[in-house]
Amino acid sequence: MVPQRALSIFPKKTEFILILVTILFVLWTIGSRWSLKELDIMPRNLEHRRGPQTARLPSDEPVRPPQLTFQDLSEFKSVVGNALQKALEEQQWVIHHRQSLPSGTRDENGAQPSLESLEADIDVLQAQFLDYLNGEEGVEEVAVFGGSLLNLQSSFDILKTWKRVHQYAMLVKSAEYNRTEFLHLGRRARANLIAYTVLYDKPSLLPGLSLPSKNVKKLRRELASIVDESTALLYPWLKPTYSSIKEMQTRFVNKDSESQEGLVICTGKWHFEMAVHLIETLRKVLQCTLPIEVHYGGPDDLPSDMLKAFNAMPNVRTVSILDFFPLETKLWGGWSMKPFALLGSRFRKVIIVDADALFLQDPRVIFNQSEIFKQHGQMFYHDRTLGGNDPWWFKSINPQWSKFSASLRYMGKDIARSSQHEMESGVVAVDKGRTGVLHSLLLVCKMNSKLERDGITYRRVHGDKETFWISWDLIRVPYKFTPTFGGTVGYMNERSHVCGGLFHTDEQSNPFWWNGGVMANKHISKDAEFMKFDYVAFDTTGDNKRNVWEWETPTTPFCLGPENSQREVRELTAREKSDGARYVDIYKEIKAKGWQAYFKESYRVDFFV
Ligand SMILES: *[C@@H]1O[C@H](CO)[C@@H](O)[C@H](O)[C@H]1NC(C)=O
Ligand SMILES: *[C@@H]1O[C@H](CO)[C@@H](O)[C@H](O)[C@H]1NC(C)=O
Repeated sequence: MVPQRALSIFPKKTEFILILVTILFVLWTIGSRWSLKELDIMPRNLEHRRGPQTARLPSDEPVRPPQLTFQDLSEFKSVVGNALQKALEEQQWVIHHRQSLPSGTRDENGAQPSLESLEADIDVLQAQFLDYLNGEEGVEEVAVFGGSLLNLQSSFDILKTWKRVHQYAMLVKSAEYNRTEFLHLGRRARANLIAYTVLYDKPSLLPGLSLPSKNVKKLRRELASIVDESTALLYPWLKPTYSSIKEMQTRFVNKDSESQEGLVICTGKWHFEMAVHLIETLRKVLQCTLPIEVHYGGPDDLPSDMLKAFNAMPNVRTVSILDFFPLETKLWGGWSMKPFALLGSRFRKVIIVDADALFLQDPRVIFNQSEIFKQHGQMFYHDRTLGGNDPWWFKSINPQWSKFSASLRYMGKDIARSSQHEMESGVVAVDKGRTGVLHSLLLVCKMNSKLERDGITYRRVHGDKETFWISWDLIRVPYKFTPTFGGTVGYMNERSHVCGGLFHTDEQSNPFWWNGGVMANKHISKDAEFMKFDYVAFDTTGDNKRNVWEWETPTTPFCLGPENSQREVRELTAREKSDGARYVDIYKEIKAKGWQAYFKESYRVDFFV
């Protein structure tokens, strides 16, 4: 597969010096008789090998040897000395160059490449190797996610790439790094994913990758050490809940059917009634039977009466996120809890839902009908298109961004198709049984950890939202968004714009869910008007120059007037309208009775015992 000595074009150091000395001696013998015009050619030729500045002479111009004359032997010796000196420098360059070429963990001379030389091209090599593992070699451009293997000058050299990628991973697996520099976080997380994938998912690659020594056992040991040590470095909080990522993945894959699929809702006491309302709409209106976990941040976040209320609802269970990954989650705050809740949930396939999100179809359709979920084990929804983004930070931490991400609105600067926000994380679905998804989710947790979120993440992006796709992209795990962009659901105003909650369709552009509850404007008082469910408007272009957004006012919600009202505005069906009306009724009932009385009546919960 590879030449035994890929570097044989370079003579060995000793051979090289011997040849040089011989040539110089011959020239010296001649030079003592004649003026040695040609001698200077020697160092010049070496000079030419050094690099791209080698200028080609026009073929019609005769090559004139330099006019060098030697007055005496001492001058000649100094010229020979200089030539020798230069040749030795050249030899140094060759040696240095050889060190930076891949050849096992060490090259033939036993030299270890420096971290600096490896870092010079590690991003592109890791991207190529991951794209290779993702099966992109020889695949048509349209079907490709990462794209680093497109337009290569020659065929992809798997082994050469592997050697450097592996050398790098061995060097950094336990090396501390500056935690606010996500460029380095990304490199380490990719190193971990590559080692993990080869070790556990594609062991058939091991014999080929252990060339030339064919020591599969040794390579396996090295890969296990990369996974163990970089996991301990990046995700120290996994313990004691899980001893390793592999153990975690195995537990998810071997779930009994009851824990295969489920919903997670994060709430504290302030969103308690919203969360209760969401569960009631799922169970009573959409007949959704998925098991539900309600995650909260310890006793200060949700008092015992509220826990009792949730646990009285059928197939609902409360989970304190502080019990999972306590090293990190005891530092939780606001948005940062969501990725940890996704990770900690007992379900293998999880949909996390904001307490104020509501559905127009049973969310189970993500698990049983979504092509995106089937293909990639995740489901993301776009946010509204709000212009004016400069993606420099994303590009600086992910210099080999995927071909897919290049198509996102977030990546556009000063162009019509540009958006500050790519993702809305009000609903996110993941399948934690899949290697790439699990590693990506771990990286989302990392970006939402205390040190990272205070130091960098929440200064660069709005909360947790963008950290999902950014993490997936950083370690090159293929992902997709539902095709439409954020729209609105509600009533139609006098400009024929649809006003209400932030609305999303499913993959077939059918109404699916919205964010913002049933209040017409959640920022104003309790007695404010409730939503009317007449129309939805959605955005199929993601082009903020074509859509008209009206900002919310103290009395009205935001409104969307899409470019193509034929295609992008739709009246809700009778079923959807009546579901919406029932959602308002349920909310009013909970509010009117007070939640304690509501639970006493509906679920026979007694709060005073
Ligand atoms: C880490 O990197 C940031 C950003 O480059 C820098 O401001 C900070 O001083 C670095 N911290 C350490 C401990 O080197
Ligand atoms: C998927 O789930 C929905 C909601 O429970 C159900 O109506 C539908 O029939 C299911 N589809 C398939 C293909 O199982």
